[in-house]
Amino acid sequence: KCTMAPESRFDCARDRLLSQGECEQRGCCYVPLPKSAGLPWCFYPSLYPGYKMGPFSPTTRGRAANLTRATPSYLPRDISTLHLEIIEETAGCLHLTVSIQDYRYEVKLPAGVPQNKADPTQDVLYTTEYQSDPFGFIVRRKSNGRVIMNTTVAPLLFADQYLQLSTSLASSLVSGLGEHYTSLLLDLNWTSVTLWNRDMAPHADANLYGSHPFYIVQEEDGLAHGVFLLNSNAIEVMLQPTPALTLVAIGGILDLYVFLGPDPESVIRQYLQVIGYPMMPPYWSLGFHLCRWGYTTTNTTRHVAQRMHNSKFPMDVQWNDLDYAAKRRVFTFDPWRFGDLPEMVEEFHERGMKYILILDPGISSTSPPGTYPPFDDGLKRDVFIKNATGHILIGEVWPGSTAFPDFTNPETRHWWEDCITDFHSKVPVDGLWIDMNEPASFVQGSVEGCPDSDLENPPYTPTGVVGGQLNSGTLCMSAQQKLSTHYNLHNMYGLTEAYATHSALRKVRGKRPFVLSRSSYPGIGRFSGVWTGDVRSDWEQLRYSIPAVLQFSLFGVPLVGADICGFGGNTTEELCVRWMQLGAFYPFMRNHNDKPNAPQEPYVFGQKAQAAMRSVLNLRYSLLPFLYTLFHHVHATADTVARPLFVEFPTDPNSQTIDRQFLWGSSLLISPVLEQGAVELAAYLPPGTWYSLHNVSRTDVLKLKHLISSFSRVFFDLPFLVKEPALTTIASRRNPFFLTVALSAGGWARGDLFWDDGDSLDTFEMGNYCYVIFIAGQVGKRQVIFALGKLTRLYNDDILQISVFVPKNQTVLSAGLCVCPLPQVLTVTSLALPMTKVFTVQWAL
Ligand code: NOJ
Repeated sequence: KCTMAPESRFDCARDRLLSQGECEQRGCCYVPLPKSAGLPWCFYPSLYPGYKMGPFSPTTRGRAANLTRATPSYLPRDISTLHLEIIEETAGCLHLTVSIQDYRYEVKLPAGVPQNKADPTQDVLYTTEYQSDPFGFIVRRKSNGRVIMNTTVAPLLFADQYLQLSTSLASSLVSGLGEHYTSLLLDLNWTSVTLWNRDMAPHADANLYGSHPFYIVQEEDGLAHGVFLLNSNAIEVMLQPTPALTLVAIGGILDLYVFLGPDPESVIRQYLQVIGYPMMPPYWSLGFHLCRWGYTTTNTTRHVAQRMHNSKFPMDVQWNDLDYAAKRRVFTFDPWRFGDLPEMVEEFHERGMKYILILDPGISSTSPPGTYPPFDDGLKRDVFIKNATGHILIGEVWPGSTAFPDFTNPETRHWWEDCITDFHSKVPVDGLWIDMNEPASFVQGSVEGCPDSDLENPPYTPTGVVGGQLNSGTLCMSAQQKLSTHYNLHNMYGLTEAYATHSALRKVRGKRPFVLSRSSYPGIGRFSGVWTGDVRSDWEQLRYSIPAVLQFSLFGVPLVGADICGFGGNTTEELCVRWMQLGAFYPFMRNHNDKPNAPQEPYVFGQKAQAAMRSVLNLRYSLLPFLYTLFHHVHATADTVARPLFVEFPTDPNSQTIDRQFLWGSSLLISPVLEQGAVELAAYLPPGTWYSLHNVSRTDVLKLKHLISSFSRVFFDLPFLVKEPALTTIASRRNPFFLTVALSAGGWARGDLFWDDGDSLDTFEMGNYCYVIFIAGQVGKRQVIFALGKLTRLYNDDILQISVFVPKNQTVLSAGLCVCPLPQVLTVTSLALPMTKVFTVQWAL
């Protein structure tokens, strides 16, 4: 029974290193291997005794059975009776929970998650089988019998602070389980990833700012499935080449969702049906944002924005980091250096720009009483996290000693809203940047340390936790929040803060909120965008920013980007140009820099570098109606904006592994230069007809695929464009539309436009928007382009120009208007087609 293939071993000594005697005492096999990097020596034999499953009985949601074990496992505070429930949520979503009868902490996502609609008439995509002793289950894809999960490969363990479930995997192509610094496909060669939110500059093998216990597996024939463990405790996932993985959570329950797709896009949609669809961002937030730590006065900040303007770089949002705050205390502004902050913000607004500043959760606790209302008021209203003895827990962040709001407490959310309302009445910010919300603290646990307990030092701490202890760089695990202990709630701190901040902004501004959060957890995309934290200014970090962004697409956080030109260390001109060229295609585009570094605003570089940056910024601005329409689809139907190739081309084997290129939606392929000194680029083109949208030789950054019509307000440096650029989204929205149509080999294309005022609340939900579909096709010997739907008079925009990319083998005989000299591109100019009418354009082929 100990003779299985080495790669099929499941570790029996995960919790601690065991001698042969100790291993055998557990009833496990002990077979050392020479040079066995990562391979377990102590492993479970097959049919290792565990839980025994009783008969199923119906419940209101599905069916349930008890799991009982006759002898305890080797873990402390083992739980001998478990409750298994199987719920067929929808045709594509199977839900399994393993919990106990009594109360035990489990995750409840913030209210308002769209409920799954089980449709009993639909045939489900899965079948389940159960092994009763020892308990295990198998989930198969009904259509082809493929095993999606098989947990009989190793025992289920369930102790108070150690829950473990192993499963085989249907293939080795696994992505997800963020937030980590990794390629899009995870390494299954005896690696492990730890999910525990941590203030940590991105590097390999570290747990980073967010936790997303969701993975997606590409099956060999282009089908896909996903698995989500709804659990907010520290989690470790061991990956092995079997292929298989083992999930370990050190608290909560096993609340598992299996999504059967059957394609990658449907898997993501099914996942988002559980965690919530992303918010619709304001239009302006898709423009360019400029930030750094070290804009030390209002005048410096003004000067930066002015230089951007003078150098004709499109830009929508000026930011300030902590520099603005008096003694680094949030909800204040420094009277000397930022005394005229309100006036500065008004000036930006007058110029059509927006303004955002940083908000850390740590509230300074050492100001003299009566001088710092956020703390005084917070004390009165009892909003802060307490330590194990019931006193306010004090940690240390930028302002020195700080208390931490408990956003699981409704009163805290009201207090936070009051703080924001009050501050906003003085400084009318347009959005908020919530940083340090893992939450980060510069002392371990608290200024007084933490009590010695099983929460601070659990029987098992995931091996990857940076610092070795759960309370490293954050609060004590025994700290008390309204909902539960910090041990249980830590990973959700950023989510709960984002929820509170989003709701507050919604009320205070009465417009679409913009929140950017560093820490994240499933569901945060409903309230906030995310940036990838303190990336270094180097080429490797530039390259890995693509899988980082793509992972957040899988996690339902479409509004995401990395700090362009890098945050840590000095950038170089070449790196910064390449980063701007890539960053122009991050869904969220912000250049941000750390205090000690050389400046990296676009205008500080040489003329050639500036021209390259300006050109790509203009390209982004010209594509914003297209990008905005993609965000609409994410919000309305859980699509993705930045899309991995495998999601769009699941049956193309080459697309399975690519993470140096990505798509916007289904049709715009971005192939950035990621290497120092590179002037040529080898890019992969998936099957289909592709056109280069960017005709600058040797720096091709963008291709346009067939089946799409994209819209542009302002094109600048492209050969067929003739419009002055606009420097903000407000200005660019006043320009007419240009329509670009890229025909497939068969001569057809399809595209659409979602259009509203860009800033009002719930426009989609209330029907305050326009939606136009454009279709191009051949009818007999005619090429036809027509619009289905129209804009209302409110947005009285005309289409001034149509550019049509034509497949090589096709010749346009007569266009009726003008044929552009470029091969493959036909440009019809001076159209003034009113978007307020349904129109058709046609010509003979
Ligand atoms: C850490 C954040 O990650 C960084 O972006 C910010 O500049 C600093 N905190 C200072 O607020």
